[in-house]
Formats: sequence, structure tokens, C-alpha cells
Amino acid sequence: MFKVEIEDGESRLADPRFRADVLAGLARRPRAIPARWFYDHRGSELFEAITDLPEYYPTRTETALLHTVCPELTGHIGAGRAVVEFGSGSSTKTPILLGCIGPSAYVPIDISGDFLRESSRTLQARFPDLPVHPFEADFTQPLSLPAAIGDAPRLGFFPGSTIGNLTPYVAADLLRAMRGSLGDGALLLIGMDRVKPLDMLIPAYDDATGVTAAFNLNLLARINRELAGTIPLDAFRHRAIWNDARARIEMHLEATRDAAFTVAGQDFAIAAGDTIHTENSHKYGPRDARILLRAGGWTPIAEWTDPDDAFALILAEAQPIRMAP
Ligand code: AVI
Repeated sequence: MFKVEIEDGESRLADPRFRADVLAGLARRPRAIPARWFYDHRGSELFEAITDLPEYYPTRTETALLHTVCPELTGHIGAGRAVVEFGSGSSTKTPILLGCIGPSAYVPIDISGDFLRESSRTLQARFPDLPVHPFEADFTQPLSLPAAIGDAPRLGFFPGSTIGNLTPYVAADLLRAMRGSLGDGALLLIGMDRVKPLDMLIPAYDDATGVTAAFNLNLLARINRELAGTIPLDAFRHRAIWNDARARIEMHLEATRDAAFTVAGQDFAIAAGDTIHTENSHKYGPRDARILLRAGGWTPIAEWTDPDDAFALILAEAQPIRMAP
């Protein structure tokens, strides 16, 4: 078990799942480490900085879209639903939705308890009369929602195109798990990033000031910090590549020279030009998005995009379970 130095000089034990994912990811070919490990304290700060970059259109486009479509959304959704957010609503998007639809309760679900409690407190201060029920859980599995929300109809909220970070197979499983958690009669409001020209896509993931590069490289710094790694950070560079066959941006860390290092006492080597694959960000055309939602148990009922068709907000209803056409 590895001790992690944290900022105030204290130490805690490294997450054994992080250790397992990193060791397995460096040993396999092609090398790949799950993107969820980007988000330590520094990684979360860097992601926040990414969302403010001029090149990173998704956050500002989705936020503006939510403002614009709110009156229409209210017509579709109606008041009195319990809003269940998958992820803990630290963004500016949640208050826009809550402010416009008049929900009966708000349930943010997140696996990170600290983050969840902090963002719930902030939201509660903003909406003092709204019952807020933070729920610490892994939302990739079907869940029993807090009994306190009673049998109010549910609205799932999954903004940010986070669905794009999953391969379609896993994304469909997640949508099904959400369908299971939210139950019959539920609605889902989901943000999905569109396929678009590369001169807009690539800079969004490889910005001029190098914030996304720092975000990607922080994963190696985290490995060194938390898993007693000796990875030479200067032997790696950030790459953002469009994989057309899979309609996704891939982020990689590419070795610029041959390098040897240890992580958690194990030896690794990488040749110049080889990469560690760190993230996928799938982009969905209108039909692809609808097919994915249907595969996951949701029927799209309304859809909004910005004037450039850069980003879509899709409202879907839970499919009744039936076996025949
Ligand atoms: C969190 N997720 C939706 C971001 C994305 O656009 O795929 C993560 C990200 N990676 C690099 N920039 C942003």
C-alpha cells in the first residue's frame, strides 16, 4: 500500500483501484489508463481552467443553450419533478435548470463524498427552499434513490457530454443503469457534443496556452506522487488525435524519447513515439445520438442545438419495457 503526500504535509493511502488501473494500463498494449484518474485536486482545477478556454466550446455552448431553451424545457418537463443529477453539479448549469423548472427536490449523485457535500452546500444556499439530498454512490450501477423524494416523477440530468468519455458499449450500459435508477415515467436531459470540423475540434483538446496538455501530463505527475513513480515528465508530450472511424478525439501521452521508469516498485519502459492512451471523447451526430439513447432505454422527445450545431441538449423519456416491436 502506498502513502500519498497531500498538500498540508499529511499523507493518506493511495487508492488501490488507481494503483491497479495504472499498473495494468502500463503493462497492456496499447497502453491505456482510464480518464477518471485525471481528476485529483490539481486535475480538477485544470479541468475547470479548460472549461474557460476560448478554444473549449462545449461548456459555454451548453450553458448558453440551457439559458435559451429553459422556457421551452419547462413546457416539456413541468414542475414538481425530482431532479437527479449524475455527477455532483459543481457547474453553473445546474442552477440554470433548477431555477427554470421548479423541481420538488434535487438529488446530486457522486462517488466523491467530499466534492458532493461541498457542491450540495453551495446549491442549498442558492435554493434555500429546495430539498437537496446528496447521494454518495457509483451511478454506473442501478440505484435505489433516497426515499425522501417519494414518488415524485424524476428528471435525470447528465450535462457536459460526459457520456462521450465512455465507449458506446459502456455508454449504453450507463444509460440503462440510469433508466433503472430513475424508473418508469422518468425523463432524462443529456448534453452531447456533435461531430464537427477538425479545425474546431482539435484546438478544443490541444489549446494554444497548453492547459489541456498540463491536464493530460498531470496524470503522470499524479502517478509519481501517489504511486512512488519515477516517470520522467519531460519525456512525454500531449497529443490530441481525431479517430474518424470511431468519431472520437483521443488524448495520448507520447514518449518523445526512449524512457525507463518504475511505478509502485514495478519496472516499465516505453519507446520514443509510443503512447499511453488517456482519454476518449466521442462526438455524436444527430442520428447516432438518438440510436445511442434508444439502445440505452430512452426515447428522445425533444432536442435543441446552438446555431452552429456544435452541441446538443436532448430530452428523452424512459422507454416502457416491452419485448415486441
Ligand atoms: C469531461 N469531459 C466531457 C471532457 C471532454 O470534453 O471530453 C474532458 C476533457 N478532456 C480534455 N478536455 C476536456
